[in-house]
Amino acid sequence: MRARKIKENVYSYPYVDWDRRLFDSLIPLPDGTSYNSYLVKGVAKTALIDSADPKMLEDFQNNLKSIQKIDYMIANHAEQDHSGLIPVVLARFPEAKLLSTPKGKDFLMDLLAIPAERFQPVEDGQTIDLGGKTLQFIYTPWVHWPETMVTYLKEDKILFSCDFFGSHLAQSGLYATDEAKVYESAKRYYAEIMMPFRGQIKRNLEKLAAIDIQMIAPSHGPIYPRPSFIMDAYKDWIGDTPKNIVVLPYISMHGSTKLMVDRLVNKLAEEGVETFQFDLSATDIGKLAIALVDAATVVIATPTLHGGPHPNVAYAAMLANALRPKAKFAALIGSYGWGEKGTIDKLVAAIPNLKVEVLGTVFQKGLPRPETYDVIDQLAVTIAQKHKENGYKN
Ligand SMILES: Cc1cc2nc3c(=O)[nH]c(=O)nc-3n(C[C@H](O)[C@H](O)[C@H](O)COP(=O)(O)O)c2cc1C
Ligand SMILES: [Fe+2]
Ligand SMILES: [Fe+2]
Repeated sequence: MRARKIKENVYSYPYVDWDRRLFDSLIPLPDGTSYNSYLVKGVAKTALIDSADPKMLEDFQNNLKSIQKIDYMIANHAEQDHSGLIPVVLARFPEAKLLSTPKGKDFLMDLLAIPAERFQPVEDGQTIDLGGKTLQFIYTPWVHWPETMVTYLKEDKILFSCDFFGSHLAQSGLYATDEAKVYESAKRYYAEIMMPFRGQIKRNLEKLAAIDIQMIAPSHGPIYPRPSFIMDAYKDWIGDTPKNIVVLPYISMHGSTKLMVDRLVNKLAEEGVETFQFDLSATDIGKLAIALVDAATVVIATPTLHGGPHPNVAYAAMLANALRPKAKFAALIGSYGWGEKGTIDKLVAAIPNLKVEVLGTVFQKGLPRPETYDVIDQLAVTIAQKHKENGYKN
């Protein structure tokens, strides 16, 4: 898309990827995504903040034609979806300096083979004056790489946050007007990219609290004219206390495990616990990741297949382990034909990062029987009690 003015001498270049359907070859993108680049013009100097994904090359080059001069290319983050077209900027503007954290410099030299002499590393809190427009660089490590920073435009009180607060949402409008829609897209983004770094995010949010931010302009998804909307959402997501929620990823080949899942979900509902169940043969795993943000308990349900959990379930367990949700409890249920031990051992071994107490393992040979349902009901009661004791709310 062409330049869109957001403030006097501040422009957004939204590169909207309407039809992208997978991010990091991992998380589905039902609503596409965008890579946003921003131009800030001072009386003396001009800065471009972040570039875009290399697939946007043609559109990006067209836009560069109408920019007379770039003095500073600012790389908030070295990942290629924002840095990939920086070499194009540096080639068109041979005098331009590339501003990043020192760690960002190392990354950009490795990932894009940019020569050292193009860099002008910035310190935490450092400012540059463009002439009536002052940019301040604030280190925000681990959102979501070690080198990440954000850029604050003092006069207009705009925070250019790159991935931090980003959302996977393609739209032609510049702003987060439909907040309910943006909330889901931003939570999907958070769940995959940010959730493993909750502790660091908390510190970064505290750091940003000292700054008067009137607008957040991320490099994915729409701009937030009401920053408290997304900052409050982040505070909620990174909080240590989970909600009164169970997440239940499962597979059932012949229906036995499914009967156990249905029983558990029904009983949990009666006990006042909300459950999100996901059939891993069909589900959008982004939805599973979103549900993991708040869940207090993860119940994994699988039949035994070739001496272990169904591979889809093993995958979901590995994914949950990698995303490090705040869940406090887990349970394993399922059905088997002649032995379940390998299944339980392999699942437990797959989730070391989940610091969970295992509340039960219920494995039934073949179809669940009345006694199986009794044990499942008891498991639901135990889960509900644990949630209540710990004060988890819906
Ligand atoms: C391809 C395949 C491999 C299986 N491998 C095992 C196994 O290694 N150990 C076992 O106890 N049962 C094994 N089973 C039997 C299933 O675990 C058993 O039928 C179970 O009740 C299926 O649960 P479901 O109805 O939820 O799919 C296997 C079944 C299939 C279809
Ligand atoms: Fe990134
Ligand atoms: Fe990104």
